[in-house]
Amino acid sequence: MALGERDKFSGQMTTGHEWNGIKELNTPVPRAIWVFLLVATLFAVTWTVLNPSWPGINGYFRGLLGVDQRTQIAQIVQQAQMDRATWTSRIDAEDFAAIQADEPLMNIVRETGQALFGDNCAACHGTNALGNPGFPNLVHAPLMWGDDPEIVAETISVGINGSSPDTRFAQMLAFGRDQMLDTADINTVVTYVQALSQPDVAAATAPDILAAGATIFADNCAACHGETAKGMTDTGAPDLTDEFWTYGSDRAAIRQSVYAGRTGVMPSWEGRLSPTEIKLLALYVLDLRAGTP
Ligand code: HEC
Ligand code: HEC
Repeated sequence: MALGERDKFSGQMTTGHEWNGIKELNTPVPRAIWVFLLVATLFAVTWTVLNPSWPGINGYFRGLLGVDQRTQIAQIVQQAQMDRATWTSRIDAEDFAAIQADEPLMNIVRETGQALFGDNCAACHGTNALGNPGFPNLVHAPLMWGDDPEIVAETISVGINGSSPDTRFAQMLAFGRDQMLDTADINTVVTYVQALSQPDVAAATAPDILAAGATIFADNCAACHGETAKGMTDTGAPDLTDEFWTYGSDRAAIRQSVYAGRTGVMPSWEGRLSPTEIKLLALYVLDLRAGTP
């Protein structure tokens, strides 16, 4: 077969290759493809010249436009910090009452506080601060150390039985284990404590037992829990007459508290959280207690 033979059906030239009688047409690449390849190549070359691209031995070609994603990110972060700085400086500077009265600022407190609480506090106090066995309910229970905003911030900062040199100390003594009360007296005072918040126990207990329990309580417990067992913020001893119990309201739990004592540890957060974050968390907890969404 001769070179340059023209195919009589398509009118195209053939390449001269033939397989089993089938001849290959010498069809040129369509112009559109050339144009596309040319445009794509030009674009690619221009792009690599304008932007950071080719690696070198000691660095890389930085591009004519000077685009650098690292500086872009740094700028975004700086901008975010400046936005943040405007409200964090207000949290630092203003007193609790002023912040609490400022609804837009409190919305930031709620949003930021929820995330901070989730990251640092929820593991013990529960996601909604409603408490877990051994960890008090921060929303509904009366605060053992008081609910004044400065006090709450201080509690979070120094902790309770925590590692800070200024930490608050709270110790429920081990009356049974340390043999300060005998078993009979422990049982009596436990019944008395149960009766304070559980009317059915009060009704089912003989008055002389309750009276004996009241005497044991006055002699051994009132110094910390108060004459009326309503708790004392000076000692951090909880109210024993309400429905909130850190360690449980059933007889076994109360007996365990009295027999073996309790020393709950609330970590000291100073040094781990900034003063701004601690103040913000105090505001957040008090806001949950106030019942605003
Ligand atoms: C490791 C567990 C743990 C973590 C984490 C924790 N707490 Fe506590 N928190 C406790 C315990 C236990 C107590 C109660 C101590 C006691 O009963 O003496 C407590 C008590 C408190 C109190 C005082 C309650 C009162 O009645 O006065 C506040 C306020 C508080 N926590 C807030 C926080 C905040 C805010 C965070 C997060 C920054 C946090 N806690 C993280 C265990 C924890
Ligand atoms: C030295 C002070 C002190 C004395 C005295 C004391 N308590 Fe307490 N008690 C505390 C403190 C502080 C707590 C909280 C401990 C904690 O949460 O870790 C507590 C906790 C308790 C609890 C657990 C409350 C809960 O929410 O689960 C019970 C029950 C209790 N005390 C009963 C008594 C009885 C009964 C006596 C007397 C026999 C007594 N306490 C004497 C300080 C005291």
